[in-house]
Amino acid sequence: MEQSFGYCNVSSFWWLTMFDKNVAQGVFITFEGGEGAGKSTQVKILANQLEEHGFKVLQTREPGGSLGAEDIRELLVTGAPDRWSASTETLLNFAARDDHLRTTIRPALQSGSVVICDRFMDSTRAYQGSAGGAQKDLIEHLEHSIIGTTVPDLTFIFDIDPDIGLSRTKSRNHGNEDRFENKPESFHQTLRQAFLDIANNEPERCVVIDASKSQSDVASSIWTIIENRLRIK
Ligand SMILES: Nc1ncnc2c1ncn2[C@@H]1O[C@H](COP(=O)(O)OP(=O)(O)O)[C@@H](O)[C@H]1O
Ligand SMILES: [Mg+2]
Repeated sequence: MEQSFGYCNVSSFWWLTMFDKNVAQGVFITFEGGEGAGKSTQVKILANQLEEHGFKVLQTREPGGSLGAEDIRELLVTGAPDRWSASTETLLNFAARDDHLRTTIRPALQSGSVVICDRFMDSTRAYQGSAGGAQKDLIEHLEHSIIGTTVPDLTFIFDIDPDIGLSRTKSRNHGNEDRFENKPESFHQTLRQAFLDIANNEPERCVVIDASKSQSDVASSIWTIIENRLRIK
């Protein structure tokens, strides 16, 4: 079954059974993309909508999402942009991810929740790998060892011109969590292409969302995809 949502084009047939509310195992959805694309805004909207439809939902984020991982988050998202090498960042991200998976994500999936995670493994591939220069082998090895089979069932890749995304971040209040926003423009341009490449390489998992649209347009594109895959009438 092929469905078109303007910018999005997704083949979703095999999803129908996975997203059946009666299936005990939960569903793992991730939101990915550059700074200010609107991911955190849409995670909340989707979580509320799913709860209204009777789904058990866990909203979480990376880096972070568990007590230990939130401590590691602080190291990653604050301070000077060149504070860590890309390899150190990769290892910190996976240290946090391991804790998050063990204590938060896997237990929630096992209890049948829809887990919605604001950033996950694709951010490491894009930020530390493609834009940062960390070795692909290192990332692949860590994905294999730490994530294993807990790969997202569905990933929304928010695509936007980094200039627009970064200008949106100026109007929000995120305390001192601006380390990545302060990376050079070329870094953000590389990120954009890296996320598009991931979507292109994994079209069954990833759906590209035109994040330059209004909040309500973005929310309805996402809901149309979810509605179809969760068989919500
Ligand atoms: N579609 C949109 N159009 C315009 N502004 C948006 C849109 N989505 C979110 N915003 C605003 O842009 C800023 C960044 O959004 P946010 O959800 O925090 O992005 P991200 O989590 O991807 O970095 C916030 O101030 C938010 O209110
Ligand atoms: Mg955010």
